Amino acid sequence: MTTTLTDSYGRQIRDLRVSLTDRCNFRCFYCLPHGEPPMSPKSQTLSFEEIARACAVFVALGVEKIRLTGGEPMLRRDLPVLVGKLAALKARGLLDLALTTNGYFLADQAQTLKHAGLDRVTVSLDSLRRETFDRMTGVDALARVLDGIAAAKRARLTPIKINAVVVRGYNEEEVADFAAFAREHDVAMRFIEFMPLDSGHDWSRESVVSGREIRERIEERFPLVPAQVRRGSETSSRWRFSDGAAGEVGIIAPVTEAFCGACSRVRLTADGQIRTCLFSTVEHSLRDVLRSGASDDEVADYVRSVVLKKEPRHYINDPSFRQPARTMSFIGG
Ligand code: GTP
Ligand code: 5AD
Ligand code: SF4
Repeated sequence: MTTTLTDSYGRQIRDLRVSLTDRCNFRCFYCLPHGEPPMSPKSQTLSFEEIARACAVFVALGVEKIRLTGGEPMLRRDLPVLVGKLAALKARGLLDLALTTNGYFLADQAQTLKHAGLDRVTVSLDSLRRETFDRMTGVDALARVLDGIAAAKRARLTPIKINAVVVRGYNEEEVADFAAFAREHDVAMRFIEFMPLDSGHDWSRESVVSGREIRERIEERFPLVPAQVRRGSETSSRWRFSDGAAGEVGIIAPVTEAFCGACSRVRLTADGQIRTCLFSTVEHSLRDVLRSGASDDEVADYVRSVVLKKEPRHYINDPSFRQPARTMSFIGG
């Protein structure tokens, strides 16, 4: 097996994002399909054994970061068992095992997940105001999520990152308050431009709050300086507070400042489809290959051939842009 995974534009794939379930206990309007979502049948959902096998192949091919996402990944029963299996891949080249969650179950599970081998968490938090939180997520759970973040910190699931999707008319007035939160709690606060991945088709160019505006809003209260880090394939531009306070700001601007040229990511959906881009319009069934009796070498050959089809970039800003059929809850944030 060669140990690198390179696409046809020379980008090395080092980052695998694995969605564990399409289900979610929240109803974030920017993510979930409208109405009752059509869930994948259970028989099509990858088992922990299948996920671990797939991840082992990806790691053998040079993947260094695995992020578990969803849907809400903590809805998968016995998640620590899977985390344990994946943490074992650290002996084979995995460097970083992270989880993206809405934080609802974190207070209960943070310690167990840390013990199982999880390195860190990223928690979605779209508002610090109870009503706005409810309006954006469909649940009145702000206090509980804040407790979850505190528990993650105690369990040293660090560095903790907090994700807020900034949407005009919802939370753009809170941007500087979030920066204050980052300073107070010593976390990396990341602001994300709203992307057209919602099936409600609420997305419009006007609803996008640009990375530039986000930075201006923060700097009205807290001047920033660029963090001295190499960006590499990271999604965010990173900033620190010029007064030396704790915490960090990250700005993720896929719409106005696309970062596709350095992309190192592929995704595996809960039903076993490889997506080579968030905005892919085709998927590749790793599940069928895994279930066909293929050897690890054959699975690796398949993965290599799929990666060669990775799209050069997204086309959000092109007039011909078509939204992918599946929403973020299926693709995995
Ligand atoms: P680290 O592993 O901590 O570097 O995380 P990350 O930057 O990959 O962050 P995270 O998983 O928290 O992703 C943050 C958000 O960035 C996601 O929820 C998406 O909204 C967006 N995002 C992540 N990956 C991509 C990508 O490949 N393309 C685009 N357009 N957006 C992405
Ligand atoms: N635009 C930008 N980010 C999104 N996410 C989900 N839907 C969108 C969207 N339409 C991201 C959020 C959330 C993560 C799981 O996925 O950051 O925290
Ligand atoms: Fe990578 Fe596609 Fe995201 Fe661009 S839009 S950064 S190519 S996954």
